Amino acid sequence: MHPKTLILPAQPEDTQFLASLRSGGYQLEQTMLGYLEGSYSPRFAQGDRAVFVAWFETQRAGYVAGHRTTRFGCEGELQWLNVAEAFRGKGVADALIQRVLDWFLSNSIFKVCVNVDPDNIAGRKVYFRNGASELDSHWLIWLDLRKKQS
Ligand SMILES: CC(C)(COP(=O)(O)OP(=O)(O)OC[C@H]1O[C@@H](n2cnc3c(N)ncnc32)[C@H](O)[C@@H]1OP(=O)(O)O)[C@@H](O)C(=O)NCCC(=O)NCCS
Repeated sequence: MHPKTLILPAQPEDTQFLASLRSGGYQLEQTMLGYLEGSYSPRFAQGDRAVFVAWFETQRAGYVAGHRTTRFGCEGELQWLNVAEAFRGKGVADALIQRVLDWFLSNSIFKVCVNVDPDNIAGRKVYFRNGASELDSHWLIWLDLRKKQS
């Protein structure tokens, strides 16, 4: 990752940026803010969640989001990972994944799932590169983050 890239916890004022990297229109901003503040929960989500934004100097480059869950017997779910097109191929995705995996670990969340389309070559590549394995055609899993870190 470029040394000028910083990973910081998301703030309410990041909401527009969070929504801008996904499709879904105006309601999406409400959803992203709700996720950030805890008033919107994806299926099976529990209270704890984290969103981190990657900054390159004064520009937002991407973000990652994750929460505690009971889905598939997992303890955590990586909900979103998005890097703005202009910042792809620079290691931003790796840095964001590592940051949210650290958050899971520090919250004693060791078994983590992520939904990724089988055709999403870049997405699958970054998750595999960061220690995930295949659960089924649409889901990848970190079976025990403690083992990955050791
Ligand atoms: C997935 C995503 C976060 C990766 O970010 P990134 O900055 O492009 O990540 P990187 O460049 O570090 O790694 C992507 C890898 O996939 C490769 N890649 C990208 N597009 C590809 C394609 N169409 N075919 C083959 N390989 C591809 C890149 O070459 C790179 O591999 P390398 O490091 O071996 O060269 C970004 O592409 C993105 O935001 N996509 C849209 C949202 C998404 O799909 N999120 C993940 C699913 S939740």
